Amino acid sequence: MIDDDLLPESSVPGLIPTLNNTGWMTESLDEISVAFTDYAGNIDAESLDIGCAYGIATLMALDKGARILACDIESGHLDILAKRIPDDAADRYRSKVGTLPDVDFAAGSFGAVLASRVLHFLTGADVEQTVTKIYDWLQPGGRVFLVADSPYTGPWRVAADDYERRKAAGDPWPGFIENYAQYLPATEDPKKHPAFINPMDPDILHRVCVQAGFEVLEDRFLTGGTRWSTGRDHAGVIARKV
Ligand SMILES: C[S@@+](CC[C@H](N)C(=O)[O-])C[C@H]1O[C@@H](n2cnc3c(N)ncnc32)[C@H](O)[C@@H]1O
Repeated sequence: MIDDDLLPESSVPGLIPTLNNTGWMTESLDEISVAFTDYAGNIDAESLDIGCAYGIATLMALDKGARILACDIESGHLDILAKRIPDDAADRYRSKVGTLPDVDFAAGSFGAVLASRVLHFLTGADVEQTVTKIYDWLQPGGRVFLVADSPYTGPWRVAADDYERRKAAGDPWPGFIENYAQYLPATEDPKKHPAFINPMDPDILHRVCVQAGFEVLEDRFLTGGTRWSTGRDHAGVIARKV
């Protein structure tokens, strides 16, 4: 458990609620996000953590010596994160409010980019545009680390059979659920959730990275950090700009 009075109270062990109804920040990092923190901590270039929430990955990367630009759609998340930055890392940290896929950074700005558990809030076309932009933002040889919620987690996991049928039929976005509210328990207010959700598997992340010009280094399912984990909670990919 994170012992941090700056964070909102949580009713769910292992997860901290976001301020803007975009799910939860995890309290423990998956292996792809840890790989980002290791990589970012070993390069001189600045790295980007986009969809950072309260900075679970940013703080670990700073602890390993990284220079980080943290970006999120929700300024309230960045306000809290700013208060959590240790004094000895302040000169290696900056932040920017930005919304995928519209946010822009100069070409060749970063040595590494992490987008953890944010892409499934975007449509397929917006995911493709985002990954193409990330390719542009990276320096040659730079690495992207992507993590997305899979069809086997969240309230939408009851539709996993449908995802598998659509994938077998060749649907490029077989996890896409246009009306997320249909899978919410009756006790949940649909207004407190996104209208649609676009869970992904490793093959989808792999395809989108290759389309954008990346060389894929690894792709796999990841285990989530809650006691409800199925072992296939997230999809992850690491890819290199060639
Ligand atoms: C589920 S949380 C994930 C937080 C953290 N990266 C993690 O892996 O636990 C999603 C985060 O992405 C942000 N977000 C959602 N949609 C976004 C968008 N279109 N552009 C940028 N950030 C977005 C939310 O504000 C939230 O902080």
